Amino acid sequence: MCGIVGYIGNNAVAEELLSGLKSLEYRGYDSSGIALNDNRKIIVFKASGKLSNLNAVLHEKNVEDYSSFMGIGHIRWATHGAPSIENAHPHLSNDGNLVLVHNGIIENYKELRQKLQNQGVVFHSQTDTEAAVHLFAEEYKKCGSLEQAVRNGLPQLKGAFAFVIMHHAESDKIIAVRKNAPLIIGCGKNENYVASDIPALLGKVNHIIHLDDDEMAVVKKNEVIVKYINGQVVQKEMEKVDMAADVISKNGYAHFMLKEICEQPAILRRVIQSHVQNQTIYLDDAKINVDFDKVKKIVIVACGTSLHAALVAKKVWEEWLKLPVQVEAASEFIYQTNLLDENSLVIGVSQSGETADTITALKLAKKYQSQIMVLTNRVDSSIVRYASSIVPLNAGVEISVAATKSYMAQLVAFYWFGLLFAQKLNKISELDWQQKLQILIQLPEKIEEILSHQNDIESIAQRLTRYSAVVFMARGFNLPTAYEAALKLKEISYINANAYPAGELKHGPIALLDKNMPVLALFEQGQNAPKLLSNCEEAKARQAPVIGIGGEKCSDIFNEYIETPEVDACFSPLLLCVPVQLLAYFTAKALNREIDQPRNLAKSVTVE
Ligand code: G6P
Repeated sequence: MCGIVGYIGNNAVAEELLSGLKSLEYRGYDSSGIALNDNRKIIVFKASGKLSNLNAVLHEKNVEDYSSFMGIGHIRWATHGAPSIENAHPHLSNDGNLVLVHNGIIENYKELRQKLQNQGVVFHSQTDTEAAVHLFAEEYKKCGSLEQAVRNGLPQLKGAFAFVIMHHAESDKIIAVRKNAPLIIGCGKNENYVASDIPALLGKVNHIIHLDDDEMAVVKKNEVIVKYINGQVVQKEMEKVDMAADVISKNGYAHFMLKEICEQPAILRRVIQSHVQNQTIYLDDAKINVDFDKVKKIVIVACGTSLHAALVAKKVWEEWLKLPVQVEAASEFIYQTNLLDENSLVIGVSQSGETADTITALKLAKKYQSQIMVLTNRVDSSIVRYASSIVPLNAGVEISVAATKSYMAQLVAFYWFGLLFAQKLNKISELDWQQKLQILIQLPEKIEEILSHQNDIESIAQRLTRYSAVVFMARGFNLPTAYEAALKLKEISYINANAYPAGELKHGPIALLDKNMPVLALFEQGQNAPKLLSNCEEAKARQAPVIGIGGEKCSDIFNEYIETPEVDACFSPLLLCVPVQLLAYFTAKALNREIDQPRNLAKSVTVE
């Protein structure tokens, strides 16, 4: 959801900015641009589309000939205005002196734009951002100081933003500002960086400073001063970067997505090793401040894939904990009557920890004095600021926009925490508890078995490319897996995939079925399997090709079948998610899609 970078130092500035943006491509790829302060003159380069297009522009314009010591850069996920060159950042003031990049949304941009236009300011783009650049430029004209101009302008802006700003006449500093959008400073020797996220700084610096909301940093070559927006200096701790530089390598895989799918057994093993000692679960790396006895209701808020993990948790936890668990799309949570109080535990699940809708939902829950917990893959992210309990997912950096290993890590965290919770509430016998633990411990091997059948899944995927739409269906624990399967397939292959409770098919969607609409059924052990099989028969009777996925094949009616190791139904979402990830991956591959960067999407969605 837009990535921003800044650099001040002696290295080749354009190269520094470009390599930073390359590591932030997961945040958007609609357009990109950089601005250099070259001998007190601001020079802007932009390109629409992928970062490689900007690279070509820089090459063509001989960017290496410019003798700049500072610059800023941006990679865009379009919110306001099409992904065109004029809407690409950096945005420049009309006098060509002040330039900025922005991540977030300026909610009152229309009013500001109108006000500035009334004063004679000419606008050139459809973006919300342009209002900010002209606002700061007008303020600069009044006070003649970049820092002061930014300080005067900020209270006039509503919304969420991270800005990195330069002025041609102040060639010793970059200003970085944060309010509800991530921003960090990378501290080097005789050089400093600004970035939306740590991957942009890997291999460049060992220490970073996390800016908090309503803070601004004056970043010079040899100094970083952080201030509140009122100008008061804030003492900030420098933190050590604890992420290996090679986390952003494909390690020989064709795509990050496949690499991340294949990492799942190793992640599980690592998590299990760190959590289970002497047949007891420890969540040592988690910060858990839940008053378990007080919890009468659990509400989980999340978006996208994280929402599907939450739906699995609902089914599992209600069975284990005998407590009501409500799951809400975070974006809807704020529009409904939420019956929350101090006896509610509200859990936000977010891989990135930056999803604006999920953060907003948690902020609302806080007002009801509810206990707040987050499950996140980024313990350094914004979401942790709103929680008293934090469960790290430990999946490692996920680069592919389509989430896979973080989904697995979310599921596992829900199962661990469910077991811990059930134990604390005395809702589980020792024997049952031990049996469940054993099932979790055996999972990595079972996932490896599924991964060893990649070729079979690839052949089925190749046949799936003939269709323009498919239906997933399931009953029981795997209904959320069906939702996730449909999401994965549509987001990377662009095949229209929908998922339904199998029993609902006959209430409408069955009207869609014919020989051109395959139905994929997810089977789990237990009483619902025969009913699901009947639903497959119903689909077959309408000529729909039927593909089964699950344990041992129970009928000959399937056109294709992907067999997975047997496991108790309650744990089967942890296995069945893997073949559907592979199916989506290989289908997209056969269709020659941009798998790691699907169109119109971004990994981290920092706008509501
Ligand atoms: C975006 C991503 C999805 C992700 C969702 C929620 O839409 O493309 O892959 O599931 O955001 O992200 P979060 O970081 O909150 O889990």
